[in-house]
Amino acid sequence: MTTQSQPSDQRTPEPSENTTERHHARLPGTEAVGAGLVGPTGRPMPDFPEPAPLTSHGPARIIAMCNQKGGVGKTTTTINLGAALAEVGRKVLLVDFDPQGALSVGLGVRANELDVTIYNLLVERGHDVRDVIQTTATPNLDVIPANIDLSAAEVQLVGEVAREQILARVLRPVMDDYDVIMIDCQPSLGLLTVNALTAAHGVVIPLECEFFAMRGVALLVETIDKITDRLNPRLQVDGILATMFDSRTLHSKEVVRSVVDHFDDQVFHTVISRTVKFPDATLAAEPITTYASTHGAAAAYRQLARELIARGGAA
Ligand SMILES: Nc1ncnc2c1ncn2[C@@H]1O[C@H](COP(=O)(O)OP(=O)(O)O)[C@@H](O)[C@H]1O
Ligand SMILES: [Mg+2]
Repeated sequence: MTTQSQPSDQRTPEPSENTTERHHARLPGTEAVGAGLVGPTGRPMPDFPEPAPLTSHGPARIIAMCNQKGGVGKTTTTINLGAALAEVGRKVLLVDFDPQGALSVGLGVRANELDVTIYNLLVERGHDVRDVIQTTATPNLDVIPANIDLSAAEVQLVGEVAREQILARVLRPVMDDYDVIMIDCQPSLGLLTVNALTAAHGVVIPLECEFFAMRGVALLVETIDKITDRLNPRLQVDGILATMFDSRTLHSKEVVRSVVDHFDDQVFHTVISRTVKFPDATLAAEPITTYASTHGAAAAYRQLARELIARGGAA
């Protein structure tokens, strides 16, 4: 992975691996950064270079967006991180893996009217995954939709041979077509989520900045460890993302601090602030990067994309 940076008037190039020499330049989109030295997670904010353009595409790195708690920003992050990666020329496929279908709806896909979705790819043979993939209004951003049909899959797959590996098999034919495949998991640690974690190279864990944020995370980490042990040795935690951060409250800062105390470098420097722009963008069925392109919320997901690439979590 290269970390070469483009010339820029706002940033000094070349972040160093050496912590003591890290650049503390203020990044666009880090609304919560105070003097430009310490970021919202309480650590010095490194500089994440503008990603170099890709000259070829694939094979994809698969990322599962996972937290068994609902309403923490999984779907919002899948859409907007996906769109931010697409904006820098990455070919991105998003997989709606929640029967609620919020990802599909958020991208303008009328999943309830579809005859063939991720459900059919999982439980029936003979489908071509390319026939199920839909393009979106965002260039480089495609989606495999889901609807309520998917809620039956968990039960139907239980008796299958290699039932944990079915999603990995479904995605195999398009691995070379994409740079990043992101799976928006449902809020559970059941068989569908196990399938996502078995197919994935990395997992991103969004945590809402509120009092019970850490509750359940131990169980999630335990599940990830078990899957690494038994099913998918390559799986790693790509990062923990603080969402719905409110820089005006001490509470938000305390939650972030306790998350950093526990998980240290695994926590993304980028945090996502709480703003009504996100639900608004969902209603408009658009990513934040086009719905409110110049808003800090869009800048934050662009920065997250750069941070993910700088960490090696995406090409
Ligand atoms: N940073 C944010 N600020 C304000 N609202 C948000 C933010 N992120 C997500 N939301 C809203 O919170 C709700 C839950 O988010 P969502 O991404 O659907 O969570 P999950 O997929 O984990 O259930 C949605 O209505 C979404 O629009
Ligand atoms: Mg969701």
